[in-house]
Amino acid sequence: VRAQDVIAAKRDGMEIAAGDLRAFVLAVARREVPDYQATAFLMAAYLRGLSRAETVALTGAMIDSGARIDPADFSRPAVDKHSTGGVGDKTSLVVAPLVAACGAAVPMMAGRGLGFTGGTLDKLEAVPGTRVRFSPDEFRDQVRRIGLAIAGQSSEMVPADGTLYALRDVTATVDSIPLITASIVAKKVAEGARFLVLDVKIGRGALMDGIDRGRALARSIVEVGSAFGLTVRALLTDMDAPLGRWVGNAAEVAECFEILDGGGDARLRELCLVLAGEMLALAGLATSPEAGMRAAEREIASGRGRSLLEAMFVAQGGRPAEFLPWTPTAAHRAPIAAAAAGVVVAIDARAVGEAAVFLGAGRETAGDAIDPEASVEIVRPVGTSVQTGEPVLVAYASDPARLAAASARLAGAVRVGDGPAAPPPLVGEGIA
Ligand code: URA
Repeated sequence: VRAQDVIAAKRDGMEIAAGDLRAFVLAVARREVPDYQATAFLMAAYLRGLSRAETVALTGAMIDSGARIDPADFSRPAVDKHSTGGVGDKTSLVVAPLVAACGAAVPMMAGRGLGFTGGTLDKLEAVPGTRVRFSPDEFRDQVRRIGLAIAGQSSEMVPADGTLYALRDVTATVDSIPLITASIVAKKVAEGARFLVLDVKIGRGALMDGIDRGRALARSIVEVGSAFGLTVRALLTDMDAPLGRWVGNAAEVAECFEILDGGGDARLRELCLVLAGEMLALAGLATSPEAGMRAAEREIASGRGRSLLEAMFVAQGGRPAEFLPWTPTAAHRAPIAAAAAGVVVAIDARAVGEAAVFLGAGRETAGDAIDPEASVEIVRPVGTSVQTGEPVLVAYASDPARLAAASARLAGAVRVGDGPAAPPPLVGEGIA
């Protein structure tokens, strides 16, 4: 089948035969389809949508574009967590070591920043030396040896997602339910997970803005996952304001160590524990999500979660001892001050995410280098009071021109009112 015929069929809203879609995706993975044709297909799929059958075919082809690890290769239950994309959303680096400390295998294939949302791989690489590309054998062996590994797509593991994901990031084709579904499920099946807790972010800082689209995405991933033997439990969680106190790659890694040391932002800690509890219950390692939460909490107190995160960085070539303790080193910074006294009633996570990308924490074209120090600090989170002129946010960048433009965007992200204001409930409904 010719690439242009697949593109034309989707452009015209027709259903693509499973065999044709598969051949196209495998050719993308072999780099035989130029980026302009792959991108044209993505835009057609974004605008026309994909049926459930097409989504399953796309997912299957993405899995088969590389190696597939068998969950039975791990002697412990293999469970993972994946977020649909958020701002300041760094829970993976906390839950993976906690759940591994509680006896699970955590093979985690993650992604880079996508649109205005951050990516786990970009965060990992903020620690000097850290590698995120593995052969399937190296990946499997690390999980067997220390209980967890976090890796990206490579020429050997889900290469089709590697190519399509990087193109989606910079071509306005990110927030598509079938494309997100295939991207997530393919990574999870290829890595050898048997169980998945899906954190479906809802709100201004999420790819799915409204609750109905969030629910539809959750259902899509639960159903397509089950077609490939993956047991999925989805939780809808709030993503209206940035999660935690920092948005930016190096800062967010430091924040994760802080949580594992027993400190850190209370809302971030709570979400990490909820997700870890769900993972342990789903994998049969805890009698309930609440019991799982308590087990994860004990592994913060014991220090084993922290040791495992450090061990993971070291196993992946990283030098956490050189990275910690972290303090911001960006050459330029700009406070975003409250224009009036009152209570911070909203911080628009989407505006913060877009500003962070602009500061250098994400990409505007494929292949852009990330500045790990580019970040936004949330000094006064939603619900806290401020005096006129006090900073609510601080932006950090190495380029002063970028800092000025991002500051203007950030000033519009903050709303101070009479209050009292509380952030919306953190965890909403579950879908299984
Ligand atoms: N996470 C992924 O891995 N892929 C997406 O498309 C969105 C979030």
